[in-house]
Amino acid sequence: MISPDRFLADLERLRHFGAAGVGKGVVRPAYTAPDVEARDWLAARMTEAGLAPRFDAMGNLFGLADGPSLLLGSHSDSQPTGGWLDGALGVIAALEVARASREAGGPAISVVSFEDEEGRFGVTTGSAVWSGGLSLAEADVLTDHDGVSLAQARAILGDRVGPDIDPAQFTGFVEMHIEQGPTLDTVGEQIGVVTEIVGIRDRVITLTGQQNHAGTTPMALRRDAFQGLAAFNARLNERFRNVVTPQTVWTIGHVSVGPNASSIVPGEVRFSMQWRDGDPDRLGRMEEIIESTVQEIASEMGLTVAFGPLLGLEPVKMDADLRARLEQAADMIAPGAWRTMPSGALHDATNLSRLMPVAMLFVPSIGGISHAFEEDTDEQDLVAGLRVLAHAAGVDQALT
Ligand code: GLV
Ligand code: MN
Ligand code: MN
Repeated sequence: MISPDRFLADLERLRHFGAAGVGKGVVRPAYTAPDVEARDWLAARMTEAGLAPRFDAMGNLFGLADGPSLLLGSHSDSQPTGGWLDGALGVIAALEVARASREAGGPAISVVSFEDEEGRFGVTTGSAVWSGGLSLAEADVLTDHDGVSLAQARAILGDRVGPDIDPAQFTGFVEMHIEQGPTLDTVGEQIGVVTEIVGIRDRVITLTGQQNHAGTTPMALRRDAFQGLAAFNARLNERFRNVVTPQTVWTIGHVSVGPNASSIVPGEVRFSMQWRDGDPDRLGRMEEIIESTVQEIASEMGLTVAFGPLLGLEPVKMDADLRARLEQAADMIAPGAWRTMPSGALHDATNLSRLMPVAMLFVPSIGGISHAFEEDTDEQDLVAGLRVLAHAAGVDQALT
């Protein structure tokens, strides 16, 4: 039987790996000690649940049921400063559904926690490699913002790593997640059944000028890389105006100014440029505008520009049959309090859609806050989501 208490206790236990900040924040980025310790704990919980834990080369952790099975899960790494539910919820809900199903002699359910969904090294890196969207060799040379390569970081897995996990054993993938936006919370509904996940592009851009003395270098003679970034940002927002929709988003979220000192004209600025939309053509148009605008600014201000690799994922639609199962379950468990909706956040489900039918459900995020220590969801919404997931997976609904 599904046990909300056991589910909530496991969720709480997982939060303690990397617990940080006020409230329920976590700091558990991919391949850090708290991330790997959490994975070891999860592997032990999988064993107790009668599942066979297996790590692949990326550190994706599978808890395998015997024979063909439905795969449930998400990720258990976090943003550099993140919330306790992003990813963790889908993994622990999967564990509870798989465990309850085994106890009740129900359908075979396997569990997964993907690694580096939060993109320390790229974009949903663990599931991108498992699904064949990125080779391990390509992934290994990606670096984080401190210059550490993925190959160096994943060495922390040591002898946990086993053989590749064959995707052919899974009949489909269902991921439960917090919404990470304001929609459900604003309208007071409990469940969102996802229709599609938007596409993303992400790349690092470096502007280089001339490092110089901040007291003696006349403004007219400066080649200030930070001024270049500031001008680029303002002009980009202008240029996007006729291209974007209210759903399109773009973010410069990481900036590294060199050498980052009060009395030095910055010689270099390295920044992340990320943009998301449901229309691949619009993503391409935005890419052209970004490139031409940064080139233009660079030549006006005497800077040079270098582009890092363009990473990204295409928009994907959810599988109609799995989605129908979630809708039917939502209607039973939260009648009049659910809706269908697109996902503006990225998820491992995007990568898995290459391999098998995929679907997703959301529960509300209080205040629409996520990727922040304040991220939270009411317990009754967490449990409603668990029940919808269990029902859609064909697992007994009786509650202990
Ligand atoms: C994943 O968390 C994302 O950036 O959407
Ligand atoms: Mn997530
Ligand atoms: Mn996230």
